[in-house]
Amino acid sequence: MTDSQRVLVYGASGHTGKFVVDELLRRGLRPVVAGRSLARLAQFAELDRRAASVEDGPGLRALLDDVAVVINCAGPFLDTALPLATAAVETGTHYLDVTAEQPAVQQLYRELDASARSAGTVVVPAMAFYGGLADLLLTAVLGPEASAAEVEIAIGLDRWWPTEGTRVTGARNTATRLVIRDGVLAPISDPAATGKWDFPEPIGAQSTVELPFSEVVTIDRHLEVGTLRSWLNTAPLDDLRDPDTPAPQAHDEHGRSAQRFAVEVTVGSGAQTRRGTATGRDIYATTAPLLVEAAVRLLDGRYLGPGALAPGEAFAAADFLTAIPDADFEAVWH
Ligand SMILES: NC(=O)c1ccc[n+]([C@@H]2O[C@H](COP(=O)([O-])OP(=O)(O)OC[C@H]3O[C@@H](n4cnc5c(N)ncnc54)[C@H](OP(=O)(O)O)[C@@H]3O)[C@@H](O)[C@H]2O)c1
Repeated sequence: MTDSQRVLVYGASGHTGKFVVDELLRRGLRPVVAGRSLARLAQFAELDRRAASVEDGPGLRALLDDVAVVINCAGPFLDTALPLATAAVETGTHYLDVTAEQPAVQQLYRELDASARSAGTVVVPAMAFYGGLADLLLTAVLGPEASAAEVEIAIGLDRWWPTEGTRVTGARNTATRLVIRDGVLAPISDPAATGKWDFPEPIGAQSTVELPFSEVVTIDRHLEVGTLRSWLNTAPLDDLRDPDTPAPQAHDEHGRSAQRFAVEVTVGSGAQTRRGTATGRDIYATTAPLLVEAAVRLLDGRYLGPGALAPGEAFAAADFLTAIPDADFEAVWH
């Protein structure tokens, strides 16, 4: 039987999973930690530990049978999202993940929206730095209007120390990236466009390249946008492409790295431009309070589902962004 407060973290052994477990504990929840191997969960000696592989449907259902919310931090999500989210819907468990991969989000919307609605469950892929944050910010900027002719999203990082999971997921995700053109999802131009963006300090003026992530698919799911272009500054891509760039190192007692980020969303152009900006530290660590805020709202009923939904469709975006309990994180818009 489902425990109304039990949250299971799948992929708890990973860099992101550990931040999520810590954040759940910090918010007074007692997570169940899970993954494909019990041996990899030995570090969580005090917690309920469970294992099942994504190839084992009955095992995944058993894992989730008494759980209210599952948070999937095990990527590549092209391998894990559909099996785990399917087991979630089948067991009446709400599902969150952190995929930046566009096809993984499309798959969940296509395969699980109807069954999630029938089951009364909420399935929210991309509830993370890449994907969810831009989706929530744009939803907040647009307000009840929920439509715009022209949107740009720009992500600025002062550097990128990638995890092994990021590297493996990038190599696995070979699909042509999608943008929104003339109101529909369309392949990005080849070669990708380049540009410049003035981010707030300490990121500042940067060269950028058009590089859409899962936010394009989530935004297309619930907002009416004529043109959507997403940009990333090029300096962190050089870090990512360098095999010698180390994994993130803890810079404080919570394990956060020193990486700084800015995410900007603009709507319209010229004097009429409306803008939203989110700033903070460490893209992996910041994903945890986003996920856990979503989990808390799924537990206490503050969600707009059921169904397979975009972050800004599942949650009241402006209220959500201002509630993130992270001293380094700030989101503003007008
Ligand atoms: N959208 C975003 O902003 C965002 C933010 C953070 C992370 N992510 C994504 O989240 C994923 C994890 O990142 P990370 O930084 O935590 O990487 P990581 O430290 O390398 O951890 C990877 C985790 O995934 C698990 N895993 C990998 N393949 C699996 C499979 N086939 N079945 C079951 N478990 C599997 C690993 O389990 P084992 O311990 O058993 O190997 C481990 O727990 C990556 O895809 C990354 O791109 C996205």
